[in-house]
Amino acid sequence: MNKMLNKTILFLLVITVFSCKTESNSSAKTSNDTPFDAKVDSLMNLMTLQEKIGQTVMYSGSGTITGPTVNTNFRTYIKEANVGAMLNVYSTKATRDLQKLAVEETRLGIPLLFGYDVIHGFKTIFPINLGLAASWDLEDIEKGSRIAAEEASAVGIHWTFAPMVDISRDPRWGRISEGAGEDVYLGSEIAKAYVKGFQGDDLSKTNTILACAKHFVGYGAAQAGRDYHTVNMGMDELRNVYLPPFEAAVDAGVETFMTAFNELNGVPATANKFLYRDILRDEWGFNGFVVTDYTAINELVEHGFAENEKHATELAIKAGIDQDMMSSANRLYLEELVNEGKVDEALINDACRRILLAKFKLGLFDDPYRYIDEQREKDVIYKPEFLEAARKSAAMCSVLLKNNDKTLPLDKNQTIALIGPLVKDKENILGNWGAAGDRTGKAISVYEGVQEYLADSKVAFAKGCEIEGDDTSGFTKAINAAKTADKVVMVMGEDYDMSGEAASRTNIKLPGKQTDLIKAIRKAVPKKQIVLVLMNGRPLDLSEEDTLADAILETWFPGTSGGYGVADVLFGAYNPSAKLPVTFPRTLGQVPIYYNMKNTGRPIPDHDPHEDYKSHYLDAPNTPLYPFGHGLSYTTFEYSDVELSSETIGFSDTLTATATITNTGDYDGYEIAQLYVHDKVGSITRPVKELKGFQKIFLKKGESKTVSFKLTAKDLEFYNLEEFRVEPGEFEIAIKGTSDFDFEHSFTLE
Ligand code: BGC
Repeated sequence: MNKMLNKTILFLLVITVFSCKTESNSSAKTSNDTPFDAKVDSLMNLMTLQEKIGQTVMYSGSGTITGPTVNTNFRTYIKEANVGAMLNVYSTKATRDLQKLAVEETRLGIPLLFGYDVIHGFKTIFPINLGLAASWDLEDIEKGSRIAAEEASAVGIHWTFAPMVDISRDPRWGRISEGAGEDVYLGSEIAKAYVKGFQGDDLSKTNTILACAKHFVGYGAAQAGRDYHTVNMGMDELRNVYLPPFEAAVDAGVETFMTAFNELNGVPATANKFLYRDILRDEWGFNGFVVTDYTAINELVEHGFAENEKHATELAIKAGIDQDMMSSANRLYLEELVNEGKVDEALINDACRRILLAKFKLGLFDDPYRYIDEQREKDVIYKPEFLEAARKSAAMCSVLLKNNDKTLPLDKNQTIALIGPLVKDKENILGNWGAAGDRTGKAISVYEGVQEYLADSKVAFAKGCEIEGDDTSGFTKAINAAKTADKVVMVMGEDYDMSGEAASRTNIKLPGKQTDLIKAIRKAVPKKQIVLVLMNGRPLDLSEEDTLADAILETWFPGTSGGYGVADVLFGAYNPSAKLPVTFPRTLGQVPIYYNMKNTGRPIPDHDPHEDYKSHYLDAPNTPLYPFGHGLSYTTFEYSDVELSSETIGFSDTLTATATITNTGDYDGYEIAQLYVHDKVGSITRPVKELKGFQKIFLKKGESKTVSFKLTAKDLEFYNLEEFRVEPGEFEIAIKGTSDFDFEHSFTLE
């Protein structure tokens, strides 16, 4: 009772002495002076060292398991003021229960922060992130993350561990599904859109949540595509490819960062001073807080970088890491390390200060329960307009990879055979990191989507086979279904947990007997058009399928309203506009393969791809099956009249590049126009092509529009191993609808 009273008095003291209403925060990057500094100071003056360390500790509740099983007495630790944040607690009941423990049963009653992986939706699940990137629609991505924040915040979640802004060029790596693909520019723009969507413009609003840029850095470059594996990369790649999306997130005001599991050039990210102190804090001026990935401090021992967990704790805090997710390291060793003089208490003060600041920004000291709102939960979860937005996203993210002889869109007057293990699926369709999404019935299957367009009597269904396994007993029924219908639509792909964390593959073909089933049907109905609808979390090797199917629609895992969105595309209610954010190889042997590669000293000549002593393969071309930026429409677009405002620009000038785009086909539709440049000579070599801008435009059939891009010297900057610089010289430039083209125009910077 006495303890409770003390706590209340202290809490009120902090709040009233420095009473100023929670107000709109500035971004983490620019928040050197915040309206909350005095409050944080006053609170910290009351805190013991142990209580400050408590703020730097995070534990997982018993909801979703997102890492190795670690049993913790988190309830006890919360009551002892040894916990600052929880993850994987995501119902109003559970968040309220634990918040009560922190607020009512600790001396100072400091509220907990609740974090969760709200990656592509909370309840209403949007397409997986690689799919979202395929929309190239920043507004839609921002809107989707705004919706995710609306839903998650209502149950008491204050913080999402997203966006994952790791560039990846390796389809073996299962987490390629969580990112925006292979490109620096697209990835950076998308990173900003997510941050804006989650955080909104005012963190004190109860429907906005903290975002987290992860995993800093290089995680997507794991050797051999194996998750958690070693990363070695030079400064060119690190500075020019892997770091920019993180800097973009900082520019957008991201409040938190998460460390990566991997080592980078011999130093594990979670103990990497160069990354956190030199780059993140000193160079980029980031003032938010950094959380480790799950048990990453303890893992410094397995990495062979720390002698034991205590040593690991010392290394992590010294490197600039503020919060420990699931290692128990800070809780067990930090105080001892301070007492032994090995860790300066100032480091703990810094970490605690940053974490408390985030709590003040969220308004948790005004009311620790303000996000936990059963009524709001009822109102917002699966709101019809959210489900509708998810449907649109699913359509906007579906990439039409191939469409021979106008196989698509489907004709409502024809009959179809719907075949494949994913036709009626309501589980995998959410993809990995499905958060609190319902995999047992809420999602709309492709079958249900098709039912909106075709009466059941016009659809013959057969599963044919499972996603994995050798069972071919369903082939006959599938073949018979194909024989009865005008067209065949096969819905196939991966299981949702074949991508995501710890889900790398050494084989990126369609699993199980699926390709054999397509072959069997092709053989049985050689003249019928076959549409392959794919759900998968990575670029697949589709070389065989490309020869078997007349049309291929890549829908990734399209989410809760996925079946509707996919059917909208299949029947032409939405004319596909998505473009690949990542290259699809012809064979795994080409990996890593990406459009913005370097030329080498022996590039293969166009006129003879097999010329000896050139950089090529003996058994496959260098070119991908489907390049970055590729994506068809039901209409066709023609690019013409490319014009540059000048052939020469100075360092302070702006170049305007324009092109006319004409819809030359039979449907209205969106086109994503892409601006590429090539810096022909540099003090370090430059990629053969680099995306520098894009625009999504709508054109009615027959209509023409002019797109215009502005380019300044700053856009041509790169890191040359010593510094960021822009170098004079000749640059090639193009505006196209894919990355697969030859340059025809150039300008000079002088
Ligand atoms: C993942 C993170 C995730 C964390 C918390 C880890 O295993 O690497 O991306 O945010 O778990 O669930």
